[in-house]
Amino acid sequence: MSGRRGKSIAEDLRRQTAGDFLSLATPGHRLGRGLAAVGLEELVAAGRLDISPPDEGRRWQEGDFAAAERKLAGLCRAGRSFFLYNGSTVGILAMQMLFGEGDAVAVPRHCHQSVIHGFVLSGARPEFAWPRLAGDWLATAAVDAAEWRRVAGQPDVRAIFCLSPSYYGVGENWSGLTEIIRQSGQLLLCDRAHGAHLGLASDIDGFDRTAVSAWVESAHKTLPVLSQGSWLHCAGQRLDIDRLAGNLRILQSTSPNYLLITSLASAVDYLGRRGKELYRRMAGNAEYLRRLLHNNNQIEILSERHLPAGHVVDPARLVAGIRAGRLSGRQVEAELLANCNIQAEMADDQSLVLIVSGWESKGDLRRVARGLAAVTGGLAPAASSARPALASIIKARPGRPDITPRQAWQARRRLVPWRQAVGLIAVSTLTVYPPGLALVVTGERCDDVVLQAIAEASEAGLQIRGWADRQPGMIAVVA
Ligand SMILES: Cc1ncc(COP(=O)(O)O)c(C=O)c1O
Repeated sequence: MSGRRGKSIAEDLRRQTAGDFLSLATPGHRLGRGLAAVGLEELVAAGRLDISPPDEGRRWQEGDFAAAERKLAGLCRAGRSFFLYNGSTVGILAMQMLFGEGDAVAVPRHCHQSVIHGFVLSGARPEFAWPRLAGDWLATAAVDAAEWRRVAGQPDVRAIFCLSPSYYGVGENWSGLTEIIRQSGQLLLCDRAHGAHLGLASDIDGFDRTAVSAWVESAHKTLPVLSQGSWLHCAGQRLDIDRLAGNLRILQSTSPNYLLITSLASAVDYLGRRGKELYRRMAGNAEYLRRLLHNNNQIEILSERHLPAGHVVDPARLVAGIRAGRLSGRQVEAELLANCNIQAEMADDQSLVLIVSGWESKGDLRRVARGLAAVTGGLAPAASSARPALASIIKARPGRPDITPRQAWQARRRLVPWRQAVGLIAVSTLTVYPPGLALVVTGERCDDVVLQAIAEASEAGLQIRGWADRQPGMIAVVA
C-alpha cells in the first residue's frame, strides 16, 4: 500500500487545494480556514505573500508588534513574550544558550533535536531523563517524577528542560516536577511546542506557570498562524531576560516574512476576543471524533488509563491505536490519503496521530471516521502487538557521554558504516522517529549497547533518523 503521492511537491500541494482534501495535521490554520477567521485572507488573496512594512524597527520597539507581544504576554499570563519567526526551534536554542561550559541541563531523552543542537551551541552537558512507554504503545509517556529527581540530583544541573505535551499529546506530571524544582531551586524550562492551544483553557494539563521560568509554543502547529510562527514566554524574576532577548537576536533572521509576523499579531488579536471559544470548538470536535471512533473496535484511542498516574493527554490530539489485523499505523495513514484524501499528522507502526482544530465541521469528522472504518474494515481485530525493541532500548539506556556535544561537534570527523563505529565517539545523533528517542547523541561513545540498540531498532522496522550526510547507515564519528 502506498499513499497517492504526486511526482513533485508542487503536484502534491496542488492536490491539497482540490475541493475535498481534509487535513488533520499542522499547520493549525487548516489550509487557510483559520487564516480567514483571523482576517488575513485579503492579504493572501491580493498576493501580498511577502510584505515589507514601513518603520520596521519602531514597530518592534514601541509600535504595533511591541503592543501585540505585550498583549500576548497578558493572554498567556507571562511576564514577557516574544514573537518567534523561525519556529519554536529558535526559542529552544535561545533558552539553551542561557547555559555554558561546566553547566548541565536535565532533558528528556525523547526531546526534540533542537534541544540537542542547543547543547552544541552552548557547550553545556546533557543529563538525560528516560521516559517510559505508554503501556505497550510506541508512544512515549512522559518522564516520571522519580526519574526527574534522579537527574536533577546529578552534579552541575542548573535547569530541568522538560517536554510537555509530547508529539503524542502526553503531558508531564506537573505536580511532581514543580515539587522537585521548589526543593532544588533549579530553573524549570519547557518545550511546549505542541501545546500552544492549551493555555486558552486554563492549562487543563496542569501546566504550572508559577514554576516555569520560560516556555516556547509553536503557535503554527495548533492555532491559526502561518508555519514557523511561534512564541516564547518568560515568567518570574529568575531568568536573565535581556540575555534571552540577545540570544534571539543572534539566532533569528533580520529579514522575517512580515506576512508571518502579521499572522502572529492577528492571531493574538483573535485569541484575545475568541480564544476560549476556539478552544471549546477544538475540544468539542475532538470529543465528537473520539465518540465516532469509539464504535470502531479496530481502533483504540490513547488515554490517561494507558499512562502512569498524574499524566494527561491533550484533549485535541487523538492517537488512534490500530488494532486491525497486521495493519500498521503507517499503512493506515497512506490508505487514508490515497483513498479518502485525508491527511493525518503522523503515524508510527502502531498508531496514527490526528490533530483536531476548531475549523472542521461535524461532516468533516464523520468523513474521517468513515475513512478509518473503510481502511480498517474487513480485518479481524488483533491485540496490540507489544514493541519489545523500543522497550528493551529504553531499559538498556544506550549512550554513555564521553565528551560534550560541542566538543564532539568541533572535533575532526569522519563517516563510517554504523557497524564499524564500535568504540568511537558519535558526532551524529541517531533517533528512532517516531517517537523521537535518541539511540546515540553527539558526544556519546558507540559502545556495544548503542550498536545493539541500532540493530534492534532496524530489525523491528523502526525508522532511524540522523544518518550522516543523509546516507542511510552512515554515522559521523570523531576522527
Ligand atoms: C517536541 C517538539 N519541540 C520543538 C519542535 C520545533 O518546533 P518548530 O517546528 O516550531 O521549530 C518540534 C517540531 O516539530 C517538536 O515536535
